[in-house]
Amino acid sequence: MEKLYFITGNKGKFKEAKIMLRPLNIKLIQTDIGYPEIQASDLKEIVLFSINFCNERLKSPFFLEDSGLFIDELNSFPGPYSRYIQDTIGNDGILKLLLNVNNRSAYFKSIVGLYKNGPHIFEGISRGIISNEILGHGGFGYDPIFIPEKSPKSFGEMTTIEKNKFSHRGRALEKLVTYLESGVE
Ligand code: IMP
Repeated sequence: MEKLYFITGNKGKFKEAKIMLRPLNIKLIQTDIGYPEIQASDLKEIVLFSINFCNERLKSPFFLEDSGLFIDELNSFPGPYSRYIQDTIGNDGILKLLLNVNNRSAYFKSIVGLYKNGPHIFEGISRGIISNEILGHGGFGYDPIFIPEKSPKSFGEMTTIEKNKFSHRGRALEKLVTYLESGVE
């Protein structure tokens, strides 16, 4: 069986990917080799740099993923700074920034970078709103404050299978699966 590495230290992301890649006859392996994330405003640029860096070290097909939350009222902040903001002010901090703000629309973007006979990029977007309060305890990061379009529930209130149907990462991984299924070398 063909092996494919997912370079991530995030167990939640790996769980989501494992479910999405189930239709493929591939053994998905989590590996947490550290890699630098350049500071750039474009997630694609960050991911391309990272996959080229990792390709020097891992001589086997792999992918990695970078995502961000973009809030309209905050001019797309935190975007590429999503991790730093989650680690510093967290979900309570975001809710405070949006206190009494009516326009709560936001989107998540996921960029999956595959390295298999060269670099390949897959993008997924999930639009929705920032909730008024913490909803649910599932998932990770901003999940309890993000309600995707066409859903009554936040990501934090969903199972992993449900979240994959609505999420940015689910959509980017779906494109990765289609690409791998097509058998392009
Ligand atoms: P990164 O892609 O691991 O750099 O994630 C950036 C930040 O956004 C981290 O704080 C993550 O926890 C958060 N994040 C990324 N994807 C998701 C998601 O699917 N749900 C909630 N938070 C996320």
